[in-house]
Amino acid sequence: MKRVTAIVLAAGLGKRMRSKMAKVLHSIAGRPMVWYSLALARAMADSGVVVVVGHQANRVRKVLEETDCFPSLQCVEQSPQRGTGHAVQQARMVVTQNGQACADTYLVLNGDTPLVRETTVQSLLALHEAEKATVTMLTTQLDDPQGYGRVIRDREGEVLRIVEDGDASSEESGVHEVNVGTYVVDGPFLFKALDALEPKNAQQEYYLTDLIHIAVTQGLRVSALPSTDTMECLGINTREQLALAERVMQQRLCRKWMQEGVTMRDPDTTTIDVRVEIGRDTILHPNVTLEGQTHIGEECVIRSSTRITDTVLGNRVKVEDACVVEGAVVEDGASIGPFARLRPGTILRQNAKVGNFVEVKSTEVGEDSKVNHLSYLGDAWIGKDVNIGAGTITCNYDGYKKHHTIVEDQVFIGSGTQLIAPVTIGRGAVVGAGSTVTQDVPAGALGIARAQQVNKSGKAAQRRALHVNQVAGSSKKKTKPKSKKKSRGA
Ligand code: UD1
Ligand code: CA
Repeated sequence: MKRVTAIVLAAGLGKRMRSKMAKVLHSIAGRPMVWYSLALARAMADSGVVVVVGHQANRVRKVLEETDCFPSLQCVEQSPQRGTGHAVQQARMVVTQNGQACADTYLVLNGDTPLVRETTVQSLLALHEAEKATVTMLTTQLDDPQGYGRVIRDREGEVLRIVEDGDASSEESGVHEVNVGTYVVDGPFLFKALDALEPKNAQQEYYLTDLIHIAVTQGLRVSALPSTDTMECLGINTREQLALAERVMQQRLCRKWMQEGVTMRDPDTTTIDVRVEIGRDTILHPNVTLEGQTHIGEECVIRSSTRITDTVLGNRVKVEDACVVEGAVVEDGASIGPFARLRPGTILRQNAKVGNFVEVKSTEVGEDSKVNHLSYLGDAWIGKDVNIGAGTITCNYDGYKKHHTIVEDQVFIGSGTQLIAPVTIGRGAVVGAGSTVTQDVPAGALGIARAQQVNKSGKAAQRRALHVNQVAGSSKKKTKPKSKKKSRGA
Protein backbone atom coordinates (compact mmCIF):
# COMPACT_ATOMS: atom_id res chain seq x y z
CA MET A 1 0.00 0.00 0.00
CA LYS A 2 1.16 3.49 -0.80
CA ARG A 3 1.74 5.96 1.99
CA VAL A 4 -0.77 8.80 1.96
CA THR A 5 -0.37 12.25 3.50
CA ALA A 6 -3.42 14.52 3.53
CA ILE A 7 -3.35 18.28 3.09
CA VAL A 8 -6.53 20.17 4.02
CA LEU A 9 -6.97 23.71 2.70
CA ALA A 10 -8.58 26.00 5.25
CA ALA A 11 -6.88 29.37 4.86
CA GLY A 12 -9.44 31.16 2.71
CA LEU A 13 -11.49 34.14 3.80
CA GLY A 14 -14.84 32.95 2.48
CA LYS A 15 -15.94 36.33 1.19
CA ARG A 16 -19.24 35.03 -0.16
CA MET A 17 -20.36 34.07 3.36
CA ARG A 18 -20.40 37.76 4.34
CA SER A 19 -19.28 36.76 7.82
CA LYS A 20 -16.94 38.06 10.50
CA MET A 21 -15.93 34.47 11.14
CA ALA A 22 -13.67 32.45 8.84
CA LYS A 23 -15.80 30.29 6.57
CA VAL A 24 -14.32 26.96 7.63
CA LEU A 25 -15.44 27.60 11.23
CA HIS A 26 -19.13 27.83 10.37
CA SER A 27 -20.86 24.91 11.98
CA ILE A 28 -22.58 21.92 10.42
CA ALA A 29 -24.30 19.49 12.82
CA GLY A 30 -22.40 21.03 15.72
CA ARG A 31 -18.89 20.88 14.26
CA PRO A 32 -16.96 23.49 12.25
CA MET A 33 -17.12 22.51 8.58
CA VAL A 34 -13.35 21.99 8.37
CA TRP A 35 -13.70 19.26 11.01
CA TYR A 36 -15.34 17.01 8.40
CA SER A 37 -12.48 17.40 5.94
CA LEU A 38 -10.01 16.72 8.75
CA ALA A 39 -11.92 13.66 9.95
CA LEU A 40 -11.93 12.35 6.38
CA ALA A 41 -8.23 13.15 6.02
CA ARG A 42 -7.41 11.33 9.24
CA ALA A 43 -9.37 8.26 8.17
CA MET A 44 -7.62 8.11 4.79
CA ALA A 45 -4.04 9.20 5.49
CA ASP A 46 -1.55 6.86 7.11
CA SER A 47 1.37 9.25 7.10
CA GLY A 48 0.00 12.44 8.64
CA VAL A 49 -2.46 15.25 8.14
CA VAL A 50 -1.53 18.88 7.53
CA VAL A 51 -4.02 21.73 7.62
CA VAL A 52 -3.27 25.04 5.93
CA VAL A 53 -4.68 27.94 7.93
CA GLY A 54 -4.48 31.64 7.09
CA HIS A 55 -7.48 33.88 7.48
CA GLN A 56 -8.09 34.07 11.27
CA ALA A 57 -5.33 31.48 11.63
CA ASN A 58 -5.15 31.66 15.42
CA ARG A 59 -8.87 31.31 15.83
CA VAL A 60 -9.01 28.32 13.49
CA ARG A 61 -6.05 26.73 15.29
CA LYS A 62 -7.67 27.29 18.68
CA VAL A 63 -10.96 25.77 17.57
CA LEU A 64 -9.15 22.72 16.24
CA GLU A 65 -7.18 22.35 19.49
CA GLU A 66 -10.38 22.62 21.51
CA THR A 67 -12.14 19.94 19.51
CA ASP A 68 -9.47 17.58 20.86
CA CYS A 69 -9.97 15.22 17.94
CA PHE A 70 -6.76 15.70 16.02
CA PRO A 71 -3.85 15.34 18.46
CA SER A 72 -1.09 14.92 15.87
CA LEU A 73 -2.44 17.48 13.43
CA GLN A 74 0.15 19.81 11.92
CA CYS A 75 -0.83 23.37 11.06
CA VAL A 76 0.97 25.56 8.53
CA GLU A 77 0.13 29.16 7.86
CA GLN A 78 -0.57 30.74 4.50
CA SER A 79 -0.19 34.49 4.61
CA PRO A 80 -1.26 36.22 2.46
CA GLN A 81 -3.75 33.85 0.86
CA ARG A 82 -2.88 33.71 -2.81
CA GLY A 83 -4.96 30.78 -3.97
CA THR A 84 -5.37 27.05 -3.47
CA GLY A 85 -2.10 26.18 -5.25
CA HIS A 86 -0.23 28.66 -3.07
CA ALA A 87 -1.92 27.11 -0.01
CA VAL A 88 -0.58 23.64 -0.83
CA GLN A 89 2.90 25.12 -1.39
CA GLN A 90 2.91 26.25 2.26
CA ALA A 91 2.76 22.62 3.36
CA ARG A 92 5.95 21.77 1.50
CA MET A 93 8.25 22.22 4.51
CA VAL A 94 6.36 19.73 6.64
CA VAL A 95 5.57 17.11 4.03
CA THR A 96 8.93 16.92 2.26
CA GLN A 97 12.47 16.17 3.41
CA ASN A 98 15.44 17.56 1.50
CA GLY A 99 13.05 18.42 -1.27
CA GLN A 100 11.80 14.83 -1.49
CA ALA A 101 8.18 13.95 -0.89
CA CYS A 102 7.69 12.04 2.39
CA ALA A 103 4.59 10.31 1.07
CA ASP A 104 3.97 8.38 -2.13
CA THR A 105 0.68 10.13 -2.56
CA TYR A 106 -0.92 13.33 -1.34
CA LEU A 107 -4.62 13.58 -0.73
CA VAL A 108 -5.59 17.25 -1.04
CA LEU A 109 -9.00 18.25 0.33
CA ASN A 110 -10.79 21.58 0.26
CA GLY A 111 -11.83 22.54 3.78
CA ASP A 112 -15.27 23.62 2.56
CA THR A 113 -16.64 20.36 1.16
CA PRO A 114 -17.85 18.64 4.32
CA LEU A 115 -20.12 16.03 2.73
CA VAL A 116 -17.53 13.98 0.83
CA ARG A 117 -17.67 10.37 2.05
CA GLU A 118 -14.87 8.02 3.04
CA THR A 119 -16.03 5.37 0.57
CA THR A 120 -15.74 7.89 -2.26
CA VAL A 121 -12.17 8.82 -1.33
CA GLN A 122 -11.31 5.12 -1.05
CA SER A 123 -12.55 4.70 -4.63
CA LEU A 124 -10.55 7.76 -5.67
CA LEU A 125 -7.33 6.32 -4.19
CA ALA A 126 -8.07 2.94 -5.78
CA LEU A 127 -8.65 4.51 -9.20
CA HIS A 128 -5.45 6.51 -8.88
CA GLU A 129 -3.50 3.34 -8.25
CA ALA A 130 -5.31 1.23 -10.84
CA GLU A 131 -4.77 3.79 -13.58
CA LYS A 132 -1.24 4.63 -12.44
CA ALA A 133 -2.33 8.23 -12.63
CA THR A 134 -0.31 11.24 -11.60
CA VAL A 135 -3.37 13.23 -10.62
CA THR A 136 -6.84 11.83 -9.88
CA MET A 137 -9.72 14.09 -9.03
CA LEU A 138 -13.33 13.82 -8.03
CA THR A 139 -15.91 15.35 -10.35
CA THR A 140 -19.68 15.52 -10.57
CA GLN A 141 -22.38 16.69 -12.99
CA LEU A 142 -24.37 19.68 -11.76
CA ASP A 143 -27.52 21.17 -13.30
CA ASP A 144 -26.24 24.54 -12.14
CA PRO A 145 -22.42 24.45 -12.26
CA GLN A 146 -22.05 28.16 -11.51
CA GLY A 147 -19.21 28.95 -9.11
CA TYR A 148 -17.35 25.69 -9.68
CA GLY A 149 -14.32 24.89 -11.83
CA ARG A 150 -15.44 23.16 -15.05
CA VAL A 151 -13.78 19.94 -16.21
CA ILE A 152 -12.70 20.34 -19.83
CA ARG A 153 -12.23 17.09 -21.74
CA ASP A 154 -11.01 16.38 -25.27
CA ARG A 155 -13.04 14.60 -27.97
CA GLU A 156 -11.96 11.22 -26.62
CA GLY A 157 -13.23 12.20 -23.20
CA GLU A 158 -9.79 12.57 -21.60
CA VAL A 159 -9.45 15.37 -19.06
CA LEU A 160 -7.46 18.30 -20.44
CA ARG A 161 -7.75 20.94 -17.74
CA ILE A 162 -9.95 22.68 -15.23
CA VAL A 163 -11.16 26.16 -15.97
CA GLU A 164 -12.37 28.28 -13.09
CA ASP A 165 -15.79 29.91 -13.20
CA GLY A 166 -14.40 33.43 -13.56
CA ASP A 167 -12.04 32.43 -16.37
CA ALA A 168 -14.44 30.27 -18.40
CA SER A 169 -15.52 31.21 -21.92
CA SER A 170 -19.25 31.08 -22.56
CA GLU A 171 -18.81 27.66 -24.17
CA GLU A 172 -16.83 26.40 -21.17
CA SER A 173 -19.40 27.85 -18.76
CA GLY A 174 -21.94 25.53 -20.38
CA VAL A 175 -20.01 22.45 -19.20
CA HIS A 176 -21.86 20.71 -16.36
CA GLU A 177 -19.06 18.50 -15.11
CA VAL A 178 -17.33 20.27 -12.22
CA ASN A 179 -14.27 19.84 -10.02
CA VAL A 180 -15.20 18.88 -6.44
CA GLY A 181 -11.90 19.93 -4.84
CA THR A 182 -10.77 16.42 -3.78
CA TYR A 183 -7.53 15.29 -5.39
CA VAL A 184 -4.99 12.50 -5.20
CA VAL A 185 -1.58 13.62 -6.46
CA ASP A 186 1.69 11.71 -6.82
CA GLY A 187 4.35 12.77 -4.34
CA PRO A 188 7.26 13.45 -6.68
CA PHE A 189 5.03 15.43 -9.07
CA LEU A 190 3.14 17.68 -6.64
CA PHE A 191 5.68 20.23 -5.45
CA LYS A 192 7.62 20.40 -8.73
CA ALA A 193 4.38 21.19 -10.54
CA LEU A 194 3.36 23.74 -7.93
CA ASP A 195 6.58 25.66 -8.70
CA ALA A 196 5.36 26.03 -12.26
CA LEU A 197 2.05 27.71 -11.32
CA GLU A 198 1.43 31.22 -12.47
CA PRO A 199 -1.29 33.60 -11.30
CA LYS A 200 -2.41 34.42 -14.82
CA ASN A 201 -6.15 34.36 -14.30
CA ALA A 202 -9.12 36.50 -13.36
CA GLN A 203 -8.36 36.28 -9.63
CA GLN A 204 -4.57 36.58 -10.01
CA GLU A 205 -4.19 33.55 -7.78
CA TYR A 206 -2.12 30.40 -7.89
CA TYR A 207 -4.75 27.82 -8.77
CA LEU A 208 -4.22 24.25 -7.59
CA THR A 209 -6.48 23.23 -10.45
CA ASP A 210 -3.79 24.24 -12.99
CA LEU A 211 -1.91 21.08 -11.94
CA ILE A 212 -4.24 19.11 -14.18
CA HIS A 213 -3.12 20.92 -17.31
CA ILE A 214 0.52 20.80 -16.23
CA ALA A 215 0.30 17.01 -15.87
CA VAL A 216 -1.44 16.66 -19.25
CA THR A 217 1.20 18.75 -21.04
CA GLN A 218 3.91 16.57 -19.49
CA GLY A 219 2.17 13.51 -20.94
CA LEU A 220 1.24 12.25 -17.46
CA ARG A 221 -2.01 10.45 -16.72
CA VAL A 222 -4.88 12.41 -15.21
CA SER A 223 -7.91 10.42 -14.01
CA ALA A 224 -11.28 11.59 -12.87
CA LEU A 225 -13.84 9.80 -10.75
CA PRO A 226 -17.35 11.09 -11.42
CA SER A 227 -19.59 10.97 -8.36
CA THR A 228 -23.32 10.48 -8.97
CA ASP A 229 -24.14 11.89 -5.55
CA THR A 230 -24.12 15.59 -6.34
CA MET A 231 -24.92 16.49 -2.74
CA GLU A 232 -21.75 14.91 -1.41
CA CYS A 233 -19.84 17.21 -3.74
CA LEU A 234 -21.36 20.42 -2.42
CA GLY A 235 -18.82 23.16 -1.79
CA ILE A 236 -19.85 25.73 0.80
CA ASN A 237 -19.33 29.27 -0.39
CA THR A 238 -22.60 30.90 0.69
CA ARG A 239 -25.06 30.76 3.58
CA GLU A 240 -27.55 29.02 1.32
CA GLN A 241 -25.05 26.26 0.62
CA LEU A 242 -24.33 26.10 4.35
CA ALA A 243 -28.03 25.55 5.08
CA LEU A 244 -28.21 22.90 2.37
CA ALA A 245 -25.19 21.08 3.80
CA GLU A 246 -26.77 21.18 7.26
CA ARG A 247 -29.95 19.64 5.89
CA VAL A 248 -28.09 16.88 4.04
CA MET A 249 -26.01 16.15 7.15
CA GLN A 250 -29.15 16.01 9.29
CA GLN A 251 -30.76 13.58 6.84
CA ARG A 252 -27.67 11.38 7.02
CA LEU A 253 -27.55 11.46 10.80
CA CYS A 254 -31.27 10.73 11.19
CA ARG A 255 -31.04 7.85 8.75
CA LYS A 256 -28.03 6.48 10.62
CA TRP A 257 -29.82 6.53 13.99
CA MET A 258 -33.03 5.07 12.58
CA GLN A 259 -30.93 2.24 11.16
CA GLU A 260 -29.51 1.79 14.67
CA GLY A 261 -33.03 1.34 16.08
CA VAL A 262 -34.17 4.83 17.09
CA THR A 263 -37.75 5.89 16.32
CA MET A 264 -38.25 9.41 14.97
CA ARG A 265 -41.78 10.62 14.54
CA ASP A 266 -40.66 13.37 12.21
CA PRO A 267 -37.02 13.16 11.11
CA ASP A 268 -37.45 16.34 9.05
CA THR A 269 -37.74 18.37 12.26
CA THR A 270 -35.24 16.39 14.32
CA THR A 271 -31.81 17.94 14.78
CA ILE A 272 -28.91 15.77 15.87
CA ASP A 273 -25.30 16.89 16.21
CA VAL A 274 -22.64 14.62 14.79
CA ARG A 275 -21.25 13.71 18.24
CA VAL A 276 -24.60 12.62 19.72
CA GLU A 277 -25.25 8.96 20.51
CA ILE A 278 -28.71 7.44 20.93
CA GLY A 279 -29.67 4.03 22.29
CA ARG A 280 -32.12 1.56 20.77
CA ASP A 281 -35.88 1.93 21.06
CA THR A 282 -35.59 5.52 22.11
CA ILE A 283 -38.41 7.61 20.64
CA LEU A 284 -37.82 11.15 19.46
CA HIS A 285 -40.93 13.27 18.92
CA PRO A 286 -41.03 16.19 16.43
CA ASN A 287 -38.82 19.25 16.93
CA VAL A 288 -36.31 17.63 19.24
CA THR A 289 -32.75 19.03 19.19
CA LEU A 290 -29.86 16.96 20.50
CA GLU A 291 -26.63 18.94 20.69
CA GLY A 292 -22.96 18.67 21.55
CA GLN A 293 -21.57 15.67 23.38
CA THR A 294 -24.91 14.16 24.31
CA HIS A 295 -25.51 10.50 25.01
CA ILE A 296 -29.07 9.19 25.18
CA GLY A 297 -29.66 5.70 26.53
CA GLU A 298 -32.13 3.03 25.43
CA GLU A 299 -35.93 3.22 25.58
CA CYS A 300 -36.00 6.90 26.39
CA VAL A 301 -38.90 9.07 25.25
CA ILE A 302 -38.12 12.66 24.32
CA ARG A 303 -41.15 14.73 23.49
CA SER A 304 -41.57 17.76 21.26
CA SER A 305 -39.68 21.05 21.37
CA THR A 306 -37.07 19.81 23.80
CA ARG A 307 -33.39 20.74 23.47
CA ILE A 308 -30.72 18.59 25.11
CA THR A 309 -27.08 19.74 25.08
CA ASP A 310 -23.90 18.08 26.41
CA THR A 311 -25.94 15.73 28.57
CA VAL A 312 -25.96 12.05 29.48
CA LEU A 313 -29.36 10.37 29.79
CA GLY A 314 -29.52 6.81 31.11
CA ASN A 315 -32.09 4.25 29.95
CA ARG A 316 -35.89 4.70 30.11
CA VAL A 317 -35.63 8.40 30.84
CA LYS A 318 -38.73 10.44 29.96
CA VAL A 319 -38.31 14.03 28.88
CA GLU A 320 -41.68 15.70 28.39
CA ASP A 321 -42.42 18.60 26.05
CA ALA A 322 -40.52 21.90 25.94
CA CYS A 323 -37.58 21.15 28.22
CA VAL A 324 -34.10 22.66 28.05
CA VAL A 325 -31.44 20.32 29.40
CA GLU A 326 -27.80 21.35 29.42
CA GLY A 327 -24.71 19.79 30.98
CA ALA A 328 -26.73 17.32 33.05
CA VAL A 329 -26.42 13.68 34.03
CA VAL A 330 -29.74 11.87 34.29
CA GLU A 331 -29.86 8.28 35.49
CA ASP A 332 -32.17 5.43 34.47
CA GLY A 333 -35.91 5.88 34.85
CA ALA A 334 -35.81 9.57 35.75
CA SER A 335 -38.38 11.94 34.30
CA ILE A 336 -38.20 15.60 33.37
CA GLY A 337 -40.78 18.23 32.48
CA PRO A 338 -42.89 19.39 30.79
CA PHE A 339 -41.36 22.89 30.75
CA ALA A 340 -38.36 22.05 32.92
CA ARG A 341 -34.89 23.51 32.70
CA LEU A 342 -31.85 21.54 33.82
CA ARG A 343 -28.72 23.66 33.85
CA PRO A 344 -25.07 22.53 34.00
CA GLY A 345 -24.11 20.48 37.01
CA THR A 346 -27.50 18.87 37.46
CA ILE A 347 -27.50 15.20 38.43
CA LEU A 348 -30.78 13.30 38.62
CA ARG A 349 -30.34 9.89 40.25
CA GLN A 350 -32.46 6.86 39.32
CA ASN A 351 -36.21 7.48 39.06
CA ALA A 352 -35.92 11.06 40.26
CA LYS A 353 -38.63 13.33 38.96
CA VAL A 354 -38.29 16.98 38.01
CA GLY A 355 -41.64 18.29 36.88
CA ASN A 356 -43.46 21.30 35.50
CA PHE A 357 -41.73 24.68 35.46
CA VAL A 358 -38.81 23.56 37.58
CA GLU A 359 -35.28 24.94 37.21
CA VAL A 360 -32.32 23.01 38.58
CA LYS A 361 -28.65 24.12 38.63
CA SER A 362 -25.52 22.50 40.12
CA THR A 363 -27.75 20.22 42.12
CA GLU A 364 -28.01 16.51 42.72
CA VAL A 365 -31.50 15.10 43.16
CA GLY A 366 -31.38 11.65 44.81
CA GLU A 367 -33.00 8.37 43.85
CA ASP A 368 -36.83 8.41 43.82
CA SER A 369 -36.97 12.04 44.92
CA LYS A 370 -39.52 14.42 43.45
CA VAL A 371 -39.46 18.10 42.61
CA ASN A 372 -42.71 18.27 40.76
CA HIS A 373 -43.89 21.84 40.43
CA LEU A 374 -42.64 25.42 40.06
CA SER A 375 -39.37 25.14 41.96
CA TYR A 376 -35.82 26.45 41.78
CA LEU A 377 -33.01 24.31 43.14
CA GLY A 378 -29.49 25.77 42.89
CA ASP A 379 -26.28 24.53 44.51
CA ALA A 380 -28.17 21.88 46.45
CA TRP A 381 -27.80 18.25 47.36
CA ILE A 382 -31.07 16.39 47.72
CA GLY A 383 -31.02 12.86 49.16
CA LYS A 384 -33.22 9.83 48.40
CA ASP A 385 -37.02 9.66 48.69
CA VAL A 386 -37.31 13.37 49.25
CA ASN A 387 -40.43 15.31 48.35
CA ILE A 388 -39.88 18.94 47.49
CA GLY A 389 -43.26 20.69 47.61
CA ALA A 390 -44.62 22.95 44.90
CA GLY A 391 -42.99 26.36 44.67
CA THR A 392 -40.03 25.55 46.88
CA ILE A 393 -36.92 27.57 46.17
CA THR A 394 -33.37 27.49 47.39
CA CYS A 395 -32.20 31.04 48.12
CA ASN A 396 -28.63 30.20 47.16
CA TYR A 397 -27.28 33.68 46.38
CA ASP A 398 -26.84 36.45 48.90
CA GLY A 399 -25.84 39.03 46.32
CA TYR A 400 -22.14 38.21 46.67
CA LYS A 401 -21.68 34.48 47.01
CA LYS A 402 -23.44 31.21 46.29
CA HIS A 403 -24.27 28.93 49.26
CA HIS A 404 -25.23 25.29 49.54
CA THR A 405 -28.44 23.61 50.64
CA ILE A 406 -28.47 20.03 51.87
CA VAL A 407 -31.69 18.04 52.12
CA GLU A 408 -31.08 14.58 53.51
CA ASP A 409 -32.92 11.33 52.67
CA GLN A 410 -36.69 11.01 53.22
CA VAL A 411 -37.26 14.67 53.96
CA PHE A 412 -40.63 16.24 53.17
CA ILE A 413 -40.53 19.92 52.28
CA GLY A 414 -43.98 21.55 52.29
CA SER A 415 -45.08 23.73 49.41
CA GLY A 416 -43.98 27.33 49.08
CA THR A 417 -40.86 26.91 51.18
CA GLN A 418 -37.77 29.08 50.92
CA LEU A 419 -34.56 27.38 51.98
CA ILE A 420 -32.11 30.17 52.76
CA ALA A 421 -28.64 28.75 52.16
CA PRO A 422 -26.41 27.66 53.71
CA VAL A 423 -28.84 25.33 55.40
CA THR A 424 -29.26 21.61 56.09
CA ILE A 425 -32.50 19.70 56.54
CA GLY A 426 -31.71 16.50 58.44
CA ARG A 427 -32.77 13.00 57.46
CA GLY A 428 -36.51 12.34 57.72
CA ALA A 429 -37.36 15.90 58.77
CA VAL A 430 -40.56 17.67 57.72
CA VAL A 431 -40.70 21.35 56.85
CA GLY A 432 -44.10 22.99 57.12
CA ALA A 433 -45.53 24.57 53.99
CA GLY A 434 -44.82 28.24 53.51
CA SER A 435 -41.73 28.21 55.70
CA THR A 436 -38.79 30.54 55.31
CA VAL A 437 -36.05 28.30 56.65
CA THR A 438 -33.00 30.16 57.93
CA GLN A 439 -31.66 27.57 60.36
CA ASP A 440 -30.85 23.88 60.06
CA VAL A 441 -33.70 21.48 60.80
CA PRO A 442 -32.42 18.46 62.76
CA ALA A 443 -33.09 14.90 61.57
CA GLY A 444 -36.61 13.75 62.33
CA ALA A 445 -37.80 17.22 63.42
CA LEU A 446 -40.76 19.22 62.15
CA GLY A 447 -39.55 22.65 61.18
CA ILE A 448 -42.07 25.44 60.74
CA ALA A 449 -40.87 28.94 60.06
CA ARG A 450 -43.77 31.21 59.30
CA ALA A 451 -45.86 33.78 61.15
CA GLN A 452 -48.47 32.39 63.56
CA GLN A 453 -51.97 32.42 62.07
CA VAL A 454 -54.67 34.47 63.81
CA ASN A 455 -58.40 33.71 63.29
CA LYS A 456 -60.81 36.51 64.28
CA SER A 457 -64.37 35.17 64.61
CA GLY A 458 -67.15 37.05 62.80
CA LYS A 459 -64.70 39.50 61.24
CA ALA A 460 -65.40 38.24 57.69
CA ALA A 461 -69.03 39.46 57.63
CA GLN A 462 -67.99 42.82 59.11
CA ARG A 463 -65.35 43.19 56.41
CA ARG A 464 -67.77 42.28 53.65
CA ALA A 465 -70.29 44.86 54.89
CA LEU A 466 -67.58 47.51 54.94
CA HIS A 467 -66.71 46.67 51.35
CA VAL A 468 -70.35 46.84 50.18
CA ASN A 469 -70.74 50.31 51.77
CA GLN A 470 -67.57 51.55 50.12
CA VAL A 471 -68.72 50.38 46.68
CA ALA A 472 -72.13 52.03 47.12
CA GLY A 473 -70.46 55.31 48.19
CA SER A 474 -68.14 55.46 45.25
CA SER A 475 -70.86 54.65 42.66
CA LYS A 476 -73.00 57.55 44.03
CA LYS A 477 -70.08 59.92 43.55
CA LYS A 478 -69.63 58.74 39.97
CA THR A 479 -73.31 59.32 38.96
CA LYS A 480 -73.40 62.84 40.44
CA PRO A 481 -71.69 64.77 37.61
CA LYS A 482 -73.88 63.04 35.02
CA SER A 483 -77.09 64.26 36.65
CA LYS A 484 -75.61 67.78 36.82
CA LYS A 485 -75.02 67.77 33.09
CA LYS A 486 -78.59 66.69 32.46
CA SER A 487 -80.03 69.45 34.63
CA ARG A 488 -77.91 72.02 32.81
CA GLY A 489 -79.19 70.85 29.45
CA ALA A 490 -82.82 70.98 30.56
C1 UD1 B 1 -12.34 25.63 -5.71
C2 UD1 B 1 -11.70 25.13 -7.01
C3 UD1 B 1 -12.81 24.83 -8.01
C4 UD1 B 1 -13.77 23.81 -7.43
C5 UD1 B 1 -14.32 24.27 -6.08
C6 UD1 B 1 -15.09 23.15 -5.44
C7 UD1 B 1 -9.53 26.24 -7.19
C8 UD1 B 1 -8.75 27.31 -7.86
N1 UD1 B 1 -10.81 26.13 -7.53
O1 UD1 B 1 -12.98 26.85 -6.02
O2 UD1 B 1 -12.24 24.32 -9.22
O3 UD1 B 1 -14.84 23.60 -8.35
O4 UD1 B 1 -13.24 24.65 -5.20
O5 UD1 B 1 -15.74 23.56 -4.29
O6 UD1 B 1 -8.98 25.51 -6.40
N2 UD1 B 1 -8.10 28.23 0.35
C9 UD1 B 1 -6.88 28.39 0.97
N3 UD1 B 1 -6.08 29.40 0.56
C10 UD1 B 1 -6.39 30.24 -0.45
C11 UD1 B 1 -7.64 30.07 -1.08
C12 UD1 B 1 -8.47 29.05 -0.67
O7 UD1 B 1 -6.56 27.64 1.89
O8 UD1 B 1 -5.59 31.13 -0.75
C13 UD1 B 1 -9.00 27.15 0.82
C14 UD1 B 1 -10.35 27.68 1.31
O9 UD1 B 1 -10.30 27.93 2.70
C15 UD1 B 1 -11.30 26.56 0.94
C16 UD1 B 1 -10.65 25.90 -0.26
O10 UD1 B 1 -9.30 26.31 -0.26
O11 UD1 B 1 -11.43 25.62 1.98
C17 UD1 B 1 -11.33 26.27 -1.57
O12 UD1 B 1 -11.25 27.67 -1.74
P1 UD1 B 1 -12.42 28.51 -2.42
O13 UD1 B 1 -11.96 29.91 -2.48
O14 UD1 B 1 -13.69 28.23 -1.77
O15 UD1 B 1 -12.39 27.90 -3.88
P2 UD1 B 1 -13.57 27.87 -4.94
O16 UD1 B 1 -13.67 29.19 -5.59
O17 UD1 B 1 -14.79 27.31 -4.35
CA1 CA C 1 -15.36 26.72 -2.29
